Amino acid sequence: MALFGKSKNNSVDVPPLVLPVHIGIIMDGNGRWAKKRGLPRKAGHSAGAKTFRKITRYCSDIGIKYLTVYAFSTENWKRPQDEVNSLMNLFKSYLEEALSDFKDDSIVVRFIGDKSHFSEDLRNLMIENEESSKDRDGMVLNIAMNYGSRDEIVRAVKNISADVKNGILSEDDINEQLVSDYLYTAGQPDPDLIIRPSGEYRISNFLLWQSAYTEFVIMNKLWPDFEKSDLDEALNIYSGRNRRYGGV
Ligand code: FPP
Repeated sequence: MALFGKSKNNSVDVPPLVLPVHIGIIMDGNGRWAKKRGLPRKAGHSAGAKTFRKITRYCSDIGIKYLTVYAFSTENWKRPQDEVNSLMNLFKSYLEEALSDFKDDSIVVRFIGDKSHFSEDLRNLMIENEESSKDRDGMVLNIAMNYGSRDEIVRAVKNISADVKNGILSEDDINEQLVSDYLYTAGQPDPDLIIRPSGEYRISNFLLWQSAYTEFVIMNKLWPDFEKSDLDEALNIYSGRNRRYGGV
């Protein structure tokens, strides 16, 4: 592993690794992982939740400032009720137990998405986690739950238009920065790198506005099998990219 720029024999100069400030991860492949093992899909989600915990801690340890994980999309409600229920139970147990672990890493936990569709229990847990972690000084972990980027943009447009109507904004105030400020990720830098495990080449309604200049790395590993070394590999690929932001 060449994460911090040392060659195998320590003798050749390797350019220093350029770390992304903000990483997004589409945690995909839980269902296929379970199917391959003849297990129910919920077993894949449980294994995926363990990977989420491991990779989150690793990102914090290596100095990533923002991590956004896609846990449940606005479209995922269409899954069979049994699978949705098992995901809700998993979220609940993680919010009760695992997220308190992140205290040691001083991780700030935020939820992006529309909380109003979740049960009262889950909503309260989300708010508690946000409140209790908001003054920490470590990595910001955005957990996208009932998140859809089109939904986020529609919500922003509605809120902007309401603020124009009630005189808080004028039409001339509307620019790219203002739109960003009305998204769930307001005040955060755009993702530098989005990783999609499981080999699918799709953005799936994740951070559409924010990913205008994001580098994508698709990896052929199912999320429950994703290791720290896979993250290292994605970081090395990212570090070798030449980002031009539309320039030359
Ligand atoms: C997509 O894989 C994964 C999900 C819809 C759920 C992701 C949730 C977790 C990893 C649990 C994380 C827990 C917390 C607390 C954030 P898929 O089911 O679409 O897989 P497939 O494409 O192989 O069917």
